[in-house]
Amino acid sequence: MSMKKKFYIATDHAGYALKAYVKDFVLELGHEIVDLGPDSADRVDYPDFAKKCAEAVLAEEGSFGILICGTGIGISMAANKVPGIRAALCHDHYTAKLTRQHNDANILCFGERVVGKGVIEDMIEAFASTEFEGGRHAGRVAKIEGCAFGADI
Ligand code: RB5
Repeated sequence: MSMKKKFYIATDHAGYALKAYVKDFVLELGHEIVDLGPDSADRVDYPDFAKKCAEAVLAEEGSFGILICGTGIGISMAANKVPGIRAALCHDHYTAKLTRQHNDANILCFGERVVGKGVIEDMIEAFASTEFEGGRHAGRVAKIEGCAFGADI
């Protein structure tokens, strides 16, 4: 098993039904998971939960996030507005693995209406067990922050 990691999880109403399942799976893998809500399937706005998760991840070095909405698109867009967050909308094992290796992603996003449980397990396993490669990718990842601040990259 890979090193124990800490995950924060949040969803909107369209990702809520999967939350309990995903939490159990992360625990089964031997990692820690903290639920940032919501606490029911009532309608909520995904940017509110993206922000909550992004801030928690930034506040604790080495921690990661999982964000789920209907498509994974809106919640990843919102999280990526927070400087320091690299939220990756993934669809399979390959994208979940490569976004850790090359992009040093710190939040895994997916859509409850898009992927099934088998693919979700595969993505979480890949994301949690893959380390950033650094090297030639480190400068590119640094330039992502440059984009956010309008720096001359
Ligand atoms: C909610 O209906 C839906 O718009 C949301 O979960 C997400 O898919 C947005 O990107």
